[in-house]
Amino acid sequence: MSAVTTRAVYPGSFDPLTNGHLDLIERSLRIFDELIVAVVTNPAKTSLFSDAERVEMIHEATRSLGHIEIMVFEGLLVDFVKRVGARAIVRGIRAVSDFEYEFQMALMNRKLREEIETVFLMPHEAYSYISSRLIKEVAGYGGTVTGLVPPGVEKRLTERFRRR
Ligand code: PNS
Repeated sequence: MSAVTTRAVYPGSFDPLTNGHLDLIERSLRIFDELIVAVVTNPAKTSLFSDAERVEMIHEATRSLGHIEIMVFEGLLVDFVKRVGARAIVRGIRAVSDFEYEFQMALMNRKLREEIETVFLMPHEAYSYISSRLIKEVAGYGGTVTGLVPPGVEKRLTERFRRR
């Protein structure tokens, strides 16, 4: 059988990257030969960290992992996936509550480009309650997020909220 390189895209806001995201990146690399972590840029949405900062934090946390690229994208996800020559979109499902939104997105993406598949992976259950939104809220009120985000992200969160 001839070797086939499978490339997948893991899209998200990553504002900021959490250990749940990192777990999903590692799991994806066990299945796909190459992974593009795609950071969405949305001028209409305010994020805590800039595109460059979000990319930088992912770089720092994934330095030891091979076969991974981090890119920023704007516009329709499926167009980006097609442009980079990937066939799959990876998304995480932490709990049943994630399912409805993810299912809608997957079906809309399939409607837009039926050749692209969405693959759902479950992060480790230790991370099932973590979200970037909650991390920002806890860190914003001075709570500890140690062990829930990579050390580089924790440092930046501390700096960001100290300045406020
Ligand atoms: O981490 P998030 O915020 O849940 O990620 C959502 C993301 C970036 C995957 C989604 O908003 C997206 O795909 N945005 C790009 C625009 C797009 O393609 N919208 C149609 C989705 S069906």
